[in-house]
Amino acid sequence: MALLLVFMSSLLFMLLSSYALQLLTDVRRRLPPGPRPLPVIGNLLDVLLVGKLPHRSLARLAEQYGPLMTLRLGTVVVIVASSAATAREVLQTHNTALSGRNPPDAWNGMGHAANSVFVLPPRNKWRALRRIGAEHLLSPRRLDGDALRPLLRDAVLGMLRRVSELAASGAPVEVGHAAFASVMDLQWRAMFSVGLDEPTSRELHGFAREAVAHSLRPNVSDFFPALAAADLQRVRRGFATHLARVYQLIDQQIERRRDARQAGDGDARKDDLLGVMLDMSEEQGKDAVDALVNQDFMRAFFTDIFLAANDTISGTIEWAMAELLQDPQAMTKVQQELKNVLGSKMHVEYSDINQLPYLQAVIKETLRLHAVVPLVPNKAEATVKIHGHTVPKGSTVLVNVWAIHHDAELWPEPNKFIPERFLKQQEEVSFQGAVDLRFVPFSAGRRTCLGLPMATRMIHTMLGSLLHRFKWTLLREVEGSGVDMSEKVGITMAMASPLQAMARRI
Ligand code: HEM
Repeated sequence: MALLLVFMSSLLFMLLSSYALQLLTDVRRRLPPGPRPLPVIGNLLDVLLVGKLPHRSLARLAEQYGPLMTLRLGTVVVIVASSAATAREVLQTHNTALSGRNPPDAWNGMGHAANSVFVLPPRNKWRALRRIGAEHLLSPRRLDGDALRPLLRDAVLGMLRRVSELAASGAPVEVGHAAFASVMDLQWRAMFSVGLDEPTSRELHGFAREAVAHSLRPNVSDFFPALAAADLQRVRRGFATHLARVYQLIDQQIERRRDARQAGDGDARKDDLLGVMLDMSEEQGKDAVDALVNQDFMRAFFTDIFLAANDTISGTIEWAMAELLQDPQAMTKVQQELKNVLGSKMHVEYSDINQLPYLQAVIKETLRLHAVVPLVPNKAEATVKIHGHTVPKGSTVLVNVWAIHHDAELWPEPNKFIPERFLKQQEEVSFQGAVDLRFVPFSAGRRTCLGLPMATRMIHTMLGSLLHRFKWTLLREVEGSGVDMSEKVGITMAMASPLQAMARRI
């Protein structure tokens, strides 16, 4: 017993002295201010328990500690930029040093992190993945070209067909799901030139969502990296189990095409993303990028593109519709604009967008209020100074996009849906963001969203077509209480209760 007491008091002494030392070191290093961390767990309770949604808890803390703030999550030092000015320091001035990533430990399941464009350090492999994605799938030239434009149009028509059937039968429409299924099918066709049948689509979606949900769970391994190998909460294993099924479906596509190419099937040389990557892998050594393209590389990239596209596009459409359903004036205004510009044309094409400024303003305002990626996670690859404070090498550097988009000095009445504010600032604020970074839904700098050209095309044409073709009303049971606008954060920030509405052909 005496021995145990001695042991416990020595342990306590060690913990307390290392805690005191840490506080002293932080002061000496001139880290940005922040709430005082508790011994061992640091500020975990401040971020994870108070308010539950980290972007909101962090915005509240920033009101107290300022636009550049330090937190300790377990043993990890986290610096949070919550204003346009500090975001500019992270995403522009010091972007070369601050564009690394600290991947969640789960992402190491199935070795995914080693080939994932989301988490790779900004070096050769990451550059190669971004180059391939931009050149062969996601550039405006490709998306507006003969190969992909028809696929984008078919996704819009497929969604309209689905909604028409529901409208005709008088059933409610799950707005996000209607858009989601079409985007998923579009992705699969653009990557593999085959469509997704409904059961596979549902299965794939379920596994992808579960995998990501695992990776975002608060995980001891992320807060105490020294313990990561033990995977105490089995988060990495959970991620791997779900990702395995996604990988399996992607492997089937790769192997089927490889076999067909080897059998000399002329039809197998397709100009889709898989075709491009297989050509590269066969040309091994011709250039440095080709040499990187193997099965692991391809499989991880297809998975990432697939994960990135789905909930982001459909989620934004769902939020926009929820806002419009509660703002009859804005709904009438956007539908009138569509009627004036499109007349009897059945759906919106991207080439119509320049004539639809109010639709554009509705989408920008939706992305401002409901940033799909509310916290952009970077890592300091070198120590830098921001506004006289130290951002130490290795620290996680979060940009709180949600806080910037709700800054009352930049956005009067920040919680209100007012598309008109973007009509006034059309010149300064594009979808790429604003020069002063007050609007950054797709982030900025070297890691800026790779899918922006696809996202803007799909959101405008899908939402515009839904609004042009149908009259929308809320379900009777929510008319009185209003739509539940609460948020949940998965891979992206989504509506906690999926939006259902009634559609009637116009
Ligand atoms: C509403 C739609 C979307 C929004 C708001 C959005 C936003 C973002 C944001 C904020 C980031 C983080 C950037 C950073 O770290 O600085 C990101 C990264 C990324 N996005 Fe998107 N995204 C959307 C749709 C898409 C689509 C459709 C694709 C692909 C088809 C895509 C592919 C990616 C990729 C690959 C990255 C990782 C970039 C990197 O780390 O280098 N996104 N996105």
